[in-house]
Amino acid sequence: MTNTGEWEGGVGRSWAAEWERTDRSFAAMTPHLLRAIAAVPGKSIVDVGCGAGEVALAVADARPDARVLGIDVSADLVATATIRTQGRANCVFALADAANWQPDRGAPDLYVSRHGVMFFDDPPGAFAHLAQVAARSASLCFSCFRSPRENPWASGMSELIGGGGLAPGDPHAPGPFAFADRDYVADLLGSAGWADVRFEPCDYRYLAGSGADPAGDALGFFMRIGPAARALREMPEAERAPVLARIEHFLAEQCAHGEVAFPAAAWIVTATKA
Ligand SMILES: C[S@@+](CC[C@H](N)C(=O)[O-])C[C@H]1O[C@@H](n2cnc3c(N)ncnc32)[C@H](O)[C@@H]1O
Repeated sequence: MTNTGEWEGGVGRSWAAEWERTDRSFAAMTPHLLRAIAAVPGKSIVDVGCGAGEVALAVADARPDARVLGIDVSADLVATATIRTQGRANCVFALADAANWQPDRGAPDLYVSRHGVMFFDDPPGAFAHLAQVAARSASLCFSCFRSPRENPWASGMSELIGGGGLAPGDPHAPGPFAFADRDYVADLLGSAGWADVRFEPCDYRYLAGSGADPAGDALGFFMRIGPAARALREMPEAERAPVLARIEHFLAEQCAHGEVAFPAAAWIVTATKA
C-alpha cells in the first residue's frame, strides 16, 4: 500500500531523485496513452498524479494548441517536473491533491494519467470531484496496472522476499495494483459521475536495468522504487544480504542484450463525464 500521504513525503522524494529510472521503466507506456487520447478532443488537459512530468510534457508537445497542467501531491516531483518544462509555453505543473484541486484557468476537458490514480486515499471522492470540476462531456484516460500475477517485475520480486511488498489485505487499498480489477474500477467510476467506461489491455516493456551492470542497476532501482523497496528497507539487516543476493541472481537471469526488462501488464481506462 502507498497512499497519498506517503507520496507527499518520502516516496515522492525517492521518485524525484530517481526520475530518470522511473521514466525509463514506464516510458514504453507513454505512446499507448498518446494513441488512446489522439482522437479525444481537449484544449485544457490535466495530467493527474503527473510525477516528474513525462506524460504532461509529451502531451504538450503532441498538442501544441492545448494547455497542459500536471498536478501532483509531491512537492519534490512537481519541482522536478517544472525544471523539465524548459520554457514550453503550454505546460505547467502545480502542487495539488486531485481530491480537492480547483481549476483556475477554466474547466478541464481531458484528464490523462499514467499510473497516477490508483493511489488516491478516497477514489470515489476523488473521481467524483474530478468529474464535478470538469467541463461538460469531459474525457478521462488513465493507465493502471493489471494483477501482480501479470506483472512479474512486482510478483517475482515479492516471491523472493517472502511475499513482502504486495500487501495481502484489501486488494483495493491505495497502491500500484489497487485498480487491477476492472469490475471494481467500472463500478467506482460509474458511481463517481463517469460514463461509457472502457478497458483496453495494454502490455509494455518495463525496463529496470541497463548500462555496464544491468542487474546491479536494476537492483539499485528496486531497492528505492516499487513494492519491494519498503519490504527490503524494513527487513532486519541480517536477513537482507542473502535476499539481495537472490534478487540480484533473479535480475541477472532476466538480463538480455544488456538490459533487464520485464513484461508489464496494464489497463488503459477511458470514460466520459456523465
Ligand atoms: C506511480 S507514480 C506515477 C507518476 C507519473 N504519472 C509517471 O507516470 O511517472 C504516482 C503519482 O501519483 C501521485 N499522487 C498520489 N496521490 C495523488 C493525489 N491524491 N493527487 C495527485 N497526485 C497524487 C504521486 O505523488 C505520484 O507522483
